[in-house]
Amino acid sequence: MTTVKVEVSGSYCVDIGAGLLEELGVRALEVAKGTAAVIVSDDTVNALYGDRAETALVRSGFSVCRFVFPHGEASKNGTTYLNLLQFLAEHSITRSDLLVALGGGVTGDLTGFAAATFLRGIRFVQVPTTLLAAVDSSVGGKTGIDLPAGKNLAGAFYQPKRVVCDYETLRTLPPDIFADGCAEVIKYSILGSPELYDHLLEKGADFDTEAVIAQCVAMKRDVVRDDEFDTGRRQLLNLGHTIAHGIEACSHYEISHGRAVAMGMAIIARAAARKGYCTAECAEAIERVIRRFGLPVETEYSAAALTQWALSDKKRAGNRITLVVPRKIGHCDLVKIPVSELQDWMEAGLPL
Ligand SMILES: NC(=O)c1ccc[n+]([C@@H]2O[C@H](COP(=O)([O-])OP(=O)(O)OC[C@H]3O[C@@H](n4cnc5c(N)ncnc54)[C@H](O)[C@@H]3O)[C@@H](O)[C@H]2O)c1
Ligand SMILES: [Zn+2]
Repeated sequence: MTTVKVEVSGSYCVDIGAGLLEELGVRALEVAKGTAAVIVSDDTVNALYGDRAETALVRSGFSVCRFVFPHGEASKNGTTYLNLLQFLAEHSITRSDLLVALGGGVTGDLTGFAAATFLRGIRFVQVPTTLLAAVDSSVGGKTGIDLPAGKNLAGAFYQPKRVVCDYETLRTLPPDIFADGCAEVIKYSILGSPELYDHLLEKGADFDTEAVIAQCVAMKRDVVRDDEFDTGRRQLLNLGHTIAHGIEACSHYEISHGRAVAMGMAIIARAAARKGYCTAECAEAIERVIRRFGLPVETEYSAAALTQWALSDKKRAGNRITLVVPRKIGHCDLVKIPVSELQDWMEAGLPL
């Protein structure tokens, strides 16, 4: 087992290991008093792991109830959120009780936001069961829900008390959802670790799960520690994401986030090479690792369409936009450009 300690407003441990679900109760007990625990899960994850999580919590003295909602991004909305708050109230949950987010990023974001706001804040533990949740959404304290006007538009910065990542749960993930998480893992290697890059290129999807998740979590921890509230360095985590958001929107969310991020990273890398920020070899190396995971490096959408959608992204500040630009494998820079130049960047990254 590996533990990564996160020190932000309130410190917490991210435990990463095989079979940790069995120890969920013991680990939860270290951050809560063993009163009531509410497992929040989607129907798929609840069917797979709900009983094991509940048994482990009961063994440690928690009384347990479960809130289960239909799987999928469409559930990350105001209705599910309010239903969850109402469920907590009806079960007389108090501030000494605990929420347990058992699932992927949807469950983690929704549960975290409910934890941040129910009774003005109660404790919660993240139990990520997707690769994306393990390396990205369960750490860092961004919680929230989608609004009809856009994704993640309501939320709060609110840190979990603990993250318990049993990576054996990743074995039941459908291959395409696992691959989506791999795009974020690749992102970390380009942002900060040539060694991770080499490992991913060599092993492909057979990478050393525990070590890789731990390294990604530690990298996210370092970025978040320097910029908890996302005003500067944390923007590095958006590598490939400005373009990805354009691709997702153009496809009406038919193209998954991970695939869009893979395309976005390849496009920004080619643009960076054409504009002299990195070498052509660097851009090729980025494409190579993305292809190694069977992820796409091209998009059919035009630079004009991508630009239009990308500009409706909330990351925009006035008439400038910050791009995350690769310099070499393991190092990226934040580059602020006028909005008027964005289309030119997109064109530079699309095939000639
Ligand atoms: N808070 C953050 O910092 C942050 C960062 C990145 C992404 N996100 C959010 O995360 C969400 C995406 O996360 P996700 O991809 O984990 O989505 P998800 O939670 O919807 O999970 C994807 C699918 O996998 C299924 N699943 C989960 N674990 C499984 C398992 N072990 N075995 C079999 N099936 C399983 C789920 O039922 C679901 O259908 C988005 O809403 C995104 O906005 C948040
Ligand atoms: Zn992402």
